Amino acid sequence: MSVRLHVNVDHVATLRNARGTPYPDPLRAAEECLAAGADGITAHLREDRRHIRDDDIQRIAAMCSRAGVTFNLEMAATDEMVGIALRVQPQVCTLVPERREERTTEGGLDAIGGGEGLARKVAALASGGIKVSLFIAADSPLIDRSRDIGARQVELHTGEYAREYAREYAPARLAELARLADGARRAHARELDVAAGHGLTLENVPALVALPEIVELNIGHAIVSDAVFLGLRSAVMAYRDAIDRGVRSR
Ligand code: PXP
Repeated sequence: MSVRLHVNVDHVATLRNARGTPYPDPLRAAEECLAAGADGITAHLREDRRHIRDDDIQRIAAMCSRAGVTFNLEMAATDEMVGIALRVQPQVCTLVPERREERTTEGGLDAIGGGEGLARKVAALASGGIKVSLFIAADSPLIDRSRDIGARQVELHTGEYAREYAREYAPARLAELARLADGARRAHARELDVAAGHGLTLENVPALVALPEIVELNIGHAIVSDAVFLGLRSAVMAYRDAIDRGVRSR
């Protein structure tokens, strides 16, 4: 059993936008990732369009449809974004919290505080034929609520795990991994697909994918960073290897 690798190409767009040039093109990056063995592409259309832009998601969605692979559109749970998703028709929509001042997505979605407004957006996307994934912390009430409002997948936030892994203090690292393991088991028992993402690197991925319920990873910043030294195709292949190594240890 393999774990799907979806590469997030946001930071290829960050590099492009830093100079206002047409290159590097996130569409070309997406094609390279697929050629190197990625299973799908992820991109986050932020409300401020700071990296990925509307035409990027149109082009990436069309390419993924032609290639028969998954395009996972990350977005805030707003009416504007739901309208865009229903037009673009990604295979998966991942709803994430978004604050304008944050550097990247910080914290998971408040699937409980989101109330009926969130539930209505999940329903609108689902009735448009889009699989809905919620990016949440690995907490039981959030997992149960995600299921109750009609999500088919949860993406467990691995930011804290990644931070503790980098600090190399074993007890804290193991505590975070145990929290993710509990969450993954609970989500699986609720018949939710279990994805994970945020802050994942070549170093911290194998121990994470040893958790048997995880079926998908969304990885961006570290792959694009490693690509500076390895090239994008080799970087994606290195992550594929690291994931497969972790899966074999299950
Ligand atoms: N998954 C979600 C829901 C995210 O918001 C992000 C960041 O855009 C990622 C995965 C990728 O995180 P990173 O860039 O740290 O790999």
